Amino acid sequence: MLEVVKKIMPVAVKNILRKPYYFMKNVLRPMPSMHSNIEYNIKLWNRYAKNWNKTEVYVQNRDIKEKEKEFYLQYLGDEWGKVSDVEEIISEYIYPYITKESVVAEIGVGGGRIASKVVNMTKEFYCFDISSEMLKKAKAVLSQYSHVKYIRLVKPKFSNKFTDKFDFVYSFDVFVHLDLHTMRNYFSEINLILKQGGKAFIHTTNLKAPDGWKRFSSQDTYTIEGHYFISPEIVDILAQHSNLRIIKKSSIVSSNFYLNRDYLVILEK
Ligand SMILES: C[S@@+](CC[C@H](N)C(=O)[O-])C[C@H]1O[C@@H](n2cnc3c(N)ncnc32)[C@H](O)[C@@H]1O
Repeated sequence: MLEVVKKIMPVAVKNILRKPYYFMKNVLRPMPSMHSNIEYNIKLWNRYAKNWNKTEVYVQNRDIKEKEKEFYLQYLGDEWGKVSDVEEIISEYIYPYITKESVVAEIGVGGGRIASKVVNMTKEFYCFDISSEMLKKAKAVLSQYSHVKYIRLVKPKFSNKFTDKFDFVYSFDVFVHLDLHTMRNYFSEINLILKQGGKAFIHTTNLKAPDGWKRFSSQDTYTIEGHYFISPEIVDILAQHSNLRIIKKSSIVSSNFYLNRDYLVILEK
């Protein structure tokens, strides 16, 4: 019907109607823009969590054979990088900073691949994420722990009830998907929610790392899936302006998937 109307309509009328037509189309069926980092990430990760399936997901660790996949994939996210590399990072960047008395938050908990290895070493554990579907996955794997809370964020801002609450806040494999303004907002918010002397572990991209540059230079244009590329100097600036002190920085380790590509820091309030 619409096609027939379009065919018989005079060109002059078509030209007049073009703008309002596309405006209405966008209003009725909006697509999140890459410039709306939060909206796009919500859609991306809700879809990822909903469709996640052990048998179909692509596993980055080339050592894992097809028949080993199901056993290897204990949590959503085990398909990214290498499980043993992630464990190495948790041992160096999380375990030394928490005790059984710690109140801990993870920003962007995803399917709980990190949380599952941390949660029983804490007093209280808060899972924050913008994706309700990811929070469902996290809840499913952490359900036996009664000291865990799940909170969906709608923007990079925490409720006032979390001010000065946390001993340790961490975010792994999340900031690589955030734009600089969103990162900056989280840095300021982390300062607000940490106790005085509290620490945070943040993981970003790194253009100075061999695989960071390789990944960046293999892409023609920016996409949220492809990562938002920054360098350690930018992390320094964000930390400085948020009154957070960097007390540990990662170095390149060619044998570790993440350490050869990204940048990891421990911040102190
Ligand atoms: C690649 S997954 C990593 C999940 C988990 N940290 C892990 O390492 O397995 C990225 C996660 O960050 C979440 N995320 C993306 N943007 C976010 C934002 N602005 N605030 C909080 N979480 C966000 C996504 O919903 C998703 O769960």
